[in-house]
Amino acid sequence: MTMTKTLSVSAIQNGTVIDHITSGQTLRIIHMLRLLHKKHKVTVGFNLPSKRMPLKDLIKIENHTLTNKEANEITVFAPEATINIIKNFEVVQKIITSLPPSISGIFICPNTLCITHHESIESFFHIEEQGRQIKLICKYCEKGFERKEMMVERKC
Ligand code: CTP
Ligand code: ZN
Repeated sequence: MTMTKTLSVSAIQNGTVIDHITSGQTLRIIHMLRLLHKKHKVTVGFNLPSKRMPLKDLIKIENHTLTNKEANEITVFAPEATINIIKNFEVVQKIITSLPPSISGIFICPNTLCITHHESIESFFHIEEQGRQIKLICKYCEKGFERKEMMVERKC
């Protein structure tokens, strides 16, 4: 008997697959990449079994290739994510990601007294790696926050 591997989410012909997303981070990544706003065809899998982690999520974006900057920004939420570029149903590239030193225009500062809430200033956070954790330090109020405290600015 031949064993056929069935995918929970269909294979795509061309585009990007963000795989091994830490369970629970997917909606934030969708907002961060503005995927709904840009009208890309997107399919998502939540809480799928994985060999590498207890449960994973994945996002498949058709006919769109993420930039290296976007790929690196994903690691702020999902450090173990793997980003695959698909052409003609084949994985042609696995983007090597690294945590960016800073991130701007994506998060809202969790400090409600921060000047970024009162004037139209684009947010800017320095990122420091602390083992498996990261600290995001607001350029304007200089307060530090953990990954789980951050909220994505909703523009879509
Ligand atoms: N994939 C897809 N459409 C394709 C080819 C691959 O959606 N035409 C998806 C796979 O389902 C997988 C990811 O892209 O989620 C990476 O594919 P592949 O490298 O073949 O899988 P693995 O070997 O499991 O990846 P890894 O080495 O990252 O574990
Ligand atoms: Zn601030």
